Amino acid sequence: MVTAVYPGSFDPATYGHLDVIRRASISFDKVIIGVLHNSAKSPLFSAEERVNILRNALCDLKNVEVKSFEGLSVNFARENHAHFILRGLRAVTDFEYELQMAQTNRVLAPDIDTMFMTTSLEYAYLSSTIMKEVASFNGDISKFAPPEITRAVIEKLQAVKSSK
Ligand code: PNS
Repeated sequence: MVTAVYPGSFDPATYGHLDVIRRASISFDKVIIGVLHNSAKSPLFSAEERVNILRNALCDLKNVEVKSFEGLSVNFARENHAHFILRGLRAVTDFEYELQMAQTNRVLAPDIDTMFMTTSLEYAYLSSTIMKEVASFNGDISKFAPPEITRAVIEKLQAVKSSK
């Protein structure tokens, strides 16, 4: 049984994340997505909301689970008996940060390897941050994520705006 964990912020998931997860679900027996609950960051969506968004978007994939976690990704991997940490690579600009993380994780947990999947070309430019920025200026985000997610982004941004 080859299990990979895919840790990330997923605030919220984009087509780029979903593409990596769908492809990984073919290569690994089990993929466990770890949504980072980090009290130091202030994400748009709560960890619970980000987990639910991913669960709904991936409910057809029987070997994919979504959980939230706090602390180190290597500990999340260990707790879930995973030997691999999965990360998506979009462009060379991701590489330095990803390499540093992978090497740090390898020092912390030599028994856990990081595997990178290159994002499909059509999503190479895409990030949750870009999607939220475009939405905040009322731009069209329909090419960035499925309708349930884009709707959630627009509603959440409206709620944040009206609470100010
Ligand atoms: O989606 P992101 O924000 O690029 O994901 C970053 C994430 C969550 C993978 C990274 O910040 C992380 O692993 N955080 C948990 C803390 C940790 O393990 N740090 C050591 C690795 S440098």
